[in-house]
Amino acid sequence: MALTFVLGLLGLLGGLSNYVPNPWSQEIPAARVSVANAQLTARALNERVENLLAKMTLDEKIGQLTQYSAGTMTGPGTARNDYNDLIAEGQVGSLFNVVGAKLTNRFQRIAVEKTRLHIPLLFGFDVIHGERTIFPVPLALASSFDPVLVEQVSHVAAEESADDGIRWVFSPMVDIARDARWGRITEGAGEDTFLGSVMAAAYIRGYQGDDLTRPDAVAACVKHFAAYGAPNAGREYNTVDMSELTLRQVYLPPYHAAIKAGAATVMSAFNPLNGVPATADPFTLTKILRQEWGFQGFVVSDFGAVKELIAHGVASNGAVAAFKALSAGVDMDMMSDLYRTKLADLVKSGDLPESVVDEAARRVLRVKFALGLFDHPYVDENHLPYVATPEKRALARRAAEESLVLLKNGPKPVPYAGTVLPIARNTPTIALIGPLADSQIDMLGSWSGVGDAADAVTLLNAMQDRCDWAKTKLLYAKGTEILTDSDAGFAEAIAIAKKADVVVLALGESAPKMTGESSSLTRLGLPGNQEDLLEAVASLGKPTVLVLFDGRPLAIKWAAQHVPAILEAWYPGIEAGPAVADILFGNVNPSGKLTATFPRAVGQEPLFYNQLPTGRPADDIDLTHPPTGEDKYFSRYIDETNAPLFPFGFGLSYTAFGYANVTLSQSKIAADALTQPKAGHFFAPASEIRVAAQVRNTGAVAGTEVAQLYIRNTGGSVEEPVRELKGFQRVTLAPGETKQIEFTLGFDELSYYNLEMARVIEPTRYQVWVGGSSEATQGAEFEVTGP
Ligand code: NOJ
Repeated sequence: MALTFVLGLLGLLGGLSNYVPNPWSQEIPAARVSVANAQLTARALNERVENLLAKMTLDEKIGQLTQYSAGTMTGPGTARNDYNDLIAEGQVGSLFNVVGAKLTNRFQRIAVEKTRLHIPLLFGFDVIHGERTIFPVPLALASSFDPVLVEQVSHVAAEESADDGIRWVFSPMVDIARDARWGRITEGAGEDTFLGSVMAAAYIRGYQGDDLTRPDAVAACVKHFAAYGAPNAGREYNTVDMSELTLRQVYLPPYHAAIKAGAATVMSAFNPLNGVPATADPFTLTKILRQEWGFQGFVVSDFGAVKELIAHGVASNGAVAAFKALSAGVDMDMMSDLYRTKLADLVKSGDLPESVVDEAARRVLRVKFALGLFDHPYVDENHLPYVATPEKRALARRAAEESLVLLKNGPKPVPYAGTVLPIARNTPTIALIGPLADSQIDMLGSWSGVGDAADAVTLLNAMQDRCDWAKTKLLYAKGTEILTDSDAGFAEAIAIAKKADVVVLALGESAPKMTGESSSLTRLGLPGNQEDLLEAVASLGKPTVLVLFDGRPLAIKWAAQHVPAILEAWYPGIEAGPAVADILFGNVNPSGKLTATFPRAVGQEPLFYNQLPTGRPADDIDLTHPPTGEDKYFSRYIDETNAPLFPFGFGLSYTAFGYANVTLSQSKIAADALTQPKAGHFFAPASEIRVAAQVRNTGAVAGTEVAQLYIRNTGGSVEEPVRELKGFQRVTLAPGETKQIEFTLGFDELSYYNLEMARVIEPTRYQVWVGGSSEATQGAEFEVTGP
C-alpha cells in the first residue's frame, strides 16, 4: 500500500500519470510475419518460449531485458564491472564487450548453472567490419558496389565472432549519412538509399545465413533506428528533424531492407526524431517497425540511451525513462540499469501492465532460442588461436582492392610523358612520404573489433616488397604527424622527393581519433599541417600521387586542382598496403565508386547528389564567378560553385568505359500495370520497364566498371530527387569488349510516398540515365500513363 502510494507519487512527479503510453501498443498484430522471420515465429520455438515464460518471476523476466558491458567501455559506464552476482540471480540477459571462448563460457556457466531457470546469456559485440580479420570500413566496402563481397566479409566476421562466443553483432549500421562532418559516416554505406538497402540486406545474409541455429551464424542488429545519420550540423548525438516524407523516402528503406532480409534485432538511436527521442518513440518502434514491417525480433537501446531520456527532457526521473522506453518498444536496456532497478516497482504500482514486460521478455527469449543457445550455450575453448590465414587475407585484399576509388589520374607534369598512374615498374626512385604510410593501427579504421594492428600491412611495407622485386629504390620520410603544427619533418620529406622520379604522399585522418563515434568535425581539410606538406612537395613538379587514408570525404580542393593523381583508399583493413600498392603499380585496376559526395568546401554540407529540385536551379549559370546581376537569384552560393569536388558514383579506372544505346522496352507503361502486376496472364500489360544499354571498354587494359542506372520523376504529386540510383552492376570487360547490360524498373523502383504516406505510382514522365557516375549523360524517357 505504502509502496503503491510512493510510486504513484513518483509517477505523478515524473509525469507518468498524464503520459499516454504507446498509442499503438494494443494493436500489435501476431500474424504479420514476413518469411524472413520464420525462425522467430516457428510454433515449436514459441511453445518453448511460452513454457519458459510461464515459469518466470517478474524479476527474472526483467533480467532478460537487462544488458551490461563487462569489458572495454564503449560509452559512459555504470561504475561497476563485476556482474557475477547479478547474473547468478537471473538479473542479466545479455553482456557485451566480453570476447573469447574462455571468458564468455565463464560468464555463461554462471547463467546456465547458477540461475533458477538456466537461461543462457546472449553475448553482443561491435563487430562492424570484421571481428579479428579486419576488412575495409563499411563506407569503403560500399564503394565496391559489390553486395556479394559484403556478404562474404560479414560471413567471415560471423564465423570469427561465434568462435569467440559472440552470437550477436551490433551491425550493420545502415544510417543514411549525407554530411561528411558526421564521424560515423565511415560506419555505413554512405548517402544513397538504394545502395544502402542493397548493402543492408547483404550484411544480414552474411551474418545470419539462412539458419540462426548454425554455430557460425550470429544475430545481426540493425542500427540506429531511426535516422541517426542526420544530426543537425553533423554534430554527434544532435537533434534530427525531418518531414515524414523524407524519413520514409530516404532514411527508412535500408532498415526495412534489413528487416525484410531477416534481421533478428534492432538498436534504437540516441537522437530525437521530430521532437521524440528515438528510444521512446512508439511511432518508429511500434507503428513502423512492428505493425507496418512485422518485425518479430527484439529492440535494444543504444548505450545508456534509456537514462538519456532524462537529459532529453522527456522523463523527469529514471522510472519514467524506463517506463517510456519499454512502452515505446525498447525491449532491452543497454547500460542504463533502469529496467532492472525500476520496472518491477512500476508493475507493482499498477502503472505498467506486466504484459508489456512479458512481451519484451518473449521477444528476447525468441532470439535466444532461435540461436540455439539453450541447446548449445558454450563454445569450444580449444580451437586454434586466430591466424590471419592466406584465405582470410585474400578476401581482405580483394575487399580492399574493390573499395579503393581512383579520383584523379592526370598527365605527368612536363617533361614526363603519360599519366601519373600506374607507376612504371622500372621507375628508378620512388619517394613515399606521410604519416599514414606506415601506421598499422590506422589501417584498421574505427570499430576494429578485436583486430590486431600487428596484422595490418602498411603501404611502406608493401611498396618496399614490390620495389625490392623491381630493383626500384624506395625512399621514405614521415614528413609530419597526422595532427601537429611542427614542420620539423618537412625538410627531409622535400629532400627525398627531390631525389625521386615519382612521389607518393600517404595523408589523411587518424582512424581512432578522428573517425567513428563522437568524431564530428567542423573542418574537412587535411588535418594539422598535412596540406602545407602536400603543397610543398607537390610544388616540386614531380609526378605526384596523393593517397588518402580517411573515414569520410575530405574537402581537398587544392589537391584536386594541383596534384595530378589522387587515390581514395579509406581505411582498407589488414591488407591495406598490398591493395594500395598493387593499384599504384597497376597490378590491379581500380574499380571502386564513391558512395558519399566529396565537397569543395565544408559550407556545402550536407551535400548529396539526390537533392530535391529547387524552383531556381542554377544548372545553366556560370557559378565560378560571384554574381553580377540577374545571375544572383538562383539557388547558389556567391563564393563557391554548387558542384561537388567529386560526385556520388564517381571513380576512375586505368581503362575508359563508354556507354551507348540506352533503350527502353517501351516508351509508355500504365500506372495500373505497375501497381497490380497480373503475373502469368498472357495478355497482361508489362509490369516493368526494362532499360538496356551497352557499355564498352574503350581503353587498352581490362577493367571493371560499376554501371549505374538513375531516374528522375518529372511530374509526381510530391517532389522527387533530381536523380536517384535505381540499379547498378559490376561489369568486367576486356579491352575493346562491349557488353549489353539490362536493368528493370518496376513497382519497387518507381513507387514513392505521397502526402498521405501511401506508396504510389502516378501518371508522370520519367527521365532515365545509364552511366559510370551520378552525372551520367546517356539517357531516355518514358511515360507512366493514367487510367
Ligand atoms: C554506442 C554506439 O552508438 C553503438 O553503435 C554501439 O553498438 C554501442 N555504443 C555499443 O558499443
